[in-house]
Amino acid sequence: MTGHTTTRFKKPRLGVAYYPEQWPRDRWRLDASRMAELGLTLVRMGEFAWSQMEPHPGQFDLEWLDEAVEIFATAGLKVILGTPTAAPPAWLIAQHPEILPLTEDGRRLRFGNRRHYCPNQPALREATARIVSTLANRYGRDTRVVCWQVDNEFGGRCYCETCRVAFTGWLRSRYGSLAALNEAWGTSFWSQTYSEWDQIQLPDRAPYAPNPGLALDYRRFVSDSYVGFQAYQISLIRQHAPTQSITHNMMGFRFGEIDYFSLAKDLDIAAWDNYPSLHLDSRWSSSGLEASVMRGLGRPVWVMEQQAGPVGWETVRTPESGQIRLWAYQSIAHGAEAVLFFRWRTARFGTEQHWHGLLNGDGSLGPWYAEVEQMSRELVQLGEDLEGARAVSEVAVLHDYDSRFALEIQPTNQSLDYRNSIQTHFGALRKLGLGVDVIAPSAALDNYRLVVAPNLYVIDRQLAEHLARYVADGGVLVLAPRSAIKDRSNAIPERPLPAYLDGLTGVRVVNYHSLHAHETAAIEGTDMPVVGGFLGWYEQLKVRDADVVARYVSGSFAGSAAITARQHGSGRVLYLAGTGDQETVDQVLRSVVHELGLRSRELPPDVELVPLVSRSGAPMSLILNHSDVAQEVHLPGGPWRNLMGKVSRVGSLDLAPYGVEVMLSESVLLPEEASR
Ligand code: GAL
Ligand code: ZN
Repeated sequence: MTGHTTTRFKKPRLGVAYYPEQWPRDRWRLDASRMAELGLTLVRMGEFAWSQMEPHPGQFDLEWLDEAVEIFATAGLKVILGTPTAAPPAWLIAQHPEILPLTEDGRRLRFGNRRHYCPNQPALREATARIVSTLANRYGRDTRVVCWQVDNEFGGRCYCETCRVAFTGWLRSRYGSLAALNEAWGTSFWSQTYSEWDQIQLPDRAPYAPNPGLALDYRRFVSDSYVGFQAYQISLIRQHAPTQSITHNMMGFRFGEIDYFSLAKDLDIAAWDNYPSLHLDSRWSSSGLEASVMRGLGRPVWVMEQQAGPVGWETVRTPESGQIRLWAYQSIAHGAEAVLFFRWRTARFGTEQHWHGLLNGDGSLGPWYAEVEQMSRELVQLGEDLEGARAVSEVAVLHDYDSRFALEIQPTNQSLDYRNSIQTHFGALRKLGLGVDVIAPSAALDNYRLVVAPNLYVIDRQLAEHLARYVADGGVLVLAPRSAIKDRSNAIPERPLPAYLDGLTGVRVVNYHSLHAHETAAIEGTDMPVVGGFLGWYEQLKVRDADVVARYVSGSFAGSAAITARQHGSGRVLYLAGTGDQETVDQVLRSVVHELGLRSRELPPDVELVPLVSRSGAPMSLILNHSDVAQEVHLPGGPWRNLMGKVSRVGSLDLAPYGVEVMLSESVLLPEEASR
């Protein structure tokens, strides 16, 4: 069983972000030689240096960049060059203030920050063409440069007039006619019928929420605006750079404003930025989820920015000793071919003084330097062992941007938060040591034994049929609540709920209850070992053709079905009628996984196991201890060889606090590998 993302692992490379423009020239050589000594082979630069590259309109100064590229290349590092468009210079903004984006309430952002541009402004495109073509012309066939990073972390919604006009063009090509748009959005409501394209305004949340169809299409339009701006830059680069890779540094899973499936289609490498301790609600599986979402984009994955020390905007959060190495290994475990730490040296000035680099602001080695040093040493052999390995994922979680956008527009209940919901289900599966792919609902599903679709809020007939086919052919599908409520224009289909899936699930949602997020309706298994509860949101089901596997024992629907299962063809579909809390979802998915006989593991809390298959077809595990205490992990079968250079173990493995071990089974080939 291989799952969808079968890319073979490469020997992981390490690198770092460096900003030559922020340090004296006579320091570059020392930094370069230190990087080389540390075993780094990649250095990223340039992504914010527009005003140094083009100090005046059309007047370029790239001599400093030539020197930097030369110094790092001579030291043995390959360069990733950023296009600097995330930070349009002061002269450009002075010439074309219309480049500054407009917020929803019409405030124009000021110069003096970054990401201060509207992606649809012609003046930005023009200036972009000039700088990007100049760079590409100069470095596009330069073997010292291996990769281009387009812009930096696309994001931000603009509400300017140019965007409005572009939006109407976007709508025209989506709907073809105003009649179709009026119909799809339901503009008979509140006298919203349009008789001219030009009457359509960008969505406004005052005084009441806008038409949901308008709001959803605007979110798609914003996403497409960045996809378009990126494509524009790629075409400029490609004219001069036939073979270098092109990437963009995305923001993993947490950021939900751009459909990364679309954005990544145009990229050679899916790169992303990984700061595991930036968010207080992060757990160990959060970064694993981010990484899996990126792997699910179907491109080789690089971590363009990996946390190198304490981070934070206004306030700082400090990692524990061992975590920087642990987190970097986590990225590698989930398939990163390159990990670049952010950043080499802590900035002395500017907004990011709290984002610590491997070196302190004064240039001395920071407390986390030694962890990277250790890792770099370890990777010399380990990298060889990892090469050719691949992820084993028998389980997929569906990640759908339409559902995510639409639920953000109408959250419905706090507990239906899309990100949380995906995290809860993903986390439950990962606790069992299962490899999990995170993929688009339209992706091929036939290689997965189990597909989990939390809050698949937006549906159409085609997707419903795709899911039904998967089940009919033997797959197991778990649908969590508030599934199949809206069509692609954010209207409610004229169908019983879950729309188009009522036949497949054998249930109809006839009522629901929406509580405060901490209020629970208790549930209890009738044919499944679960005792738990739904938080905040729970539905009343009319069971037409399904088995009740759990029922409500409290709340308005006490006694009736809370979880159902139905056989369909040679597969099975389960419907969870409420937002399970983590423990409930843990129990439900554990039971489904056990019944299916997937190779799950019971692991100590906060121990992460990433299952891989080595290049020769033997089971391999990366085991990461995310806790501050030593842990013992049971090793099934045996013997296992410890690839971290320690003695081989049979039976069990000791993990240090924040420790990492890589184990290779010496006993068996996986049956399906042996027959390959
Ligand atoms: C990322 C960004 C970097 C830097 C870093 C830490 O979001 O790409 O340029 O800002 O965070 O602040
Ligand atoms: Zn705009």
